[in-house]
Amino acid sequence: MDFNFSDRIKDLGGNAIREIFKLLADPSVISFAGGFPTKSTLPVQLISETTSSLMESADAANILQYGSTEGYTPLRQTAASYVSRYGIKDINIDNTLVISGGQQGIDLTFKTFVNKGDVVLVEDPTYLAVLHILKTYEAVAVGVASGDNGLNLDDLEAKIIKYKPKVLYIVPTFSNPTGREYSIENRIAIAQLTAKYGVIVLEDDPYSELRFEGDRIASIKSFDKTGNVIYITSFSKTLAPGLRTGIAIGHADIIRKMTIGKQATDVHTSSLSQAIVNDFLSRGLMDARVSELIPLYKEKKDAMIAAICKYMPKEFKYTDPKGGLFIFGEFDESLGINTFKLFPEIASKKVAYVSGHSFFASEDKFNCLRLNYSNASLEQIDIGIKRLGDFFKNIIANK
Ligand SMILES: Cc1ncc(COP(=O)(O)O)c(C=O)c1O
Repeated sequence: MDFNFSDRIKDLGGNAIREIFKLLADPSVISFAGGFPTKSTLPVQLISETTSSLMESADAANILQYGSTEGYTPLRQTAASYVSRYGIKDINIDNTLVISGGQQGIDLTFKTFVNKGDVVLVEDPTYLAVLHILKTYEAVAVGVASGDNGLNLDDLEAKIIKYKPKVLYIVPTFSNPTGREYSIENRIAIAQLTAKYGVIVLEDDPYSELRFEGDRIASIKSFDKTGNVIYITSFSKTLAPGLRTGIAIGHADIIRKMTIGKQATDVHTSSLSQAIVNDFLSRGLMDARVSELIPLYKEKKDAMIAAICKYMPKEFKYTDPKGGLFIFGEFDESLGINTFKLFPEIASKKVAYVSGHSFFASEDKFNCLRLNYSNASLEQIDIGIKRLGDFFKNIIANK
């Protein structure tokens, strides 16, 4: 039968990473492709004990009952004080919505603000799922140039004037895919510029807690004077992605509309997951948890940087992140290396990355790639980067 799919979905392929996962069913492939937490760190024991104690508590039946779309009230209250660590103050529960992961926060923001044909500005390169989600809303993603300290503010202002975007989507701390972080000056300027032109900012912050170096930087939301910034964070990278729980903070009117959008999507985030996250946060366990993850991820990141120095061709330039889960690298453009076209050959050598072009809204950049270091072991990092290095050196030698 020929299915008469909707306009918004009929020409869409799968999200690049989800498609790569299908190729990676072979366990002998060393994958630097996804953004998975290290499996051995997932807190099986903690979640098991928390779940048992929740199920023995007086609240047990409520936790298994339908809940409100806004979220489990104790978690919304806890979240309102939790986000003060990012400089976000004076939050009450009308400003908080529990979301089923950061991904849902992104989707609900676009559902709330974006009509067909609207422009949304994103950093170039950006989190690739955002480009995919925007297509489902038949919106147009336009890239803003960026550098080591954040967005190029001249380019941002020029594009705001030219395109009159509804939303600016950014990951200012340890971005996916580059791992870079915006400076405090850049954050303040983004808050001011977007307020001046009335552009909604979606500040996506799943990685702040995974900081290897330096001090925590205030969020853009903390400089929001007009209510135009929505802040989302998630417990996927710090606690467990399978809980599918995150928080959105914003102006009460925006949160209300996002809640209405969520009613149509999943009624509410799993109450059991919400109660687990609430227990975790209200017992103050986040700092202890990330203090276990950070040395491990830093060790892996350092190992990957060392392996890149040792094995990759000298024409490969790369970021050295101070936190998060990703390194982004690019080959000198003059070499004409196309990481997308070469991917099937690389995968046949049993190592995988995500080709960089998937992360760009406005540029066709095929000379770059993203590497994740949290999923592979130290030994796999060395072997996998050597495989990549040998492969690309060979390509360059034969050019
Ligand atoms: C920048 C960014 N935002 C959102 C997400 C979605 O995360 P989740 O829905 O698991 O919270 C990810 C996942 O990798 C991400 O990197």
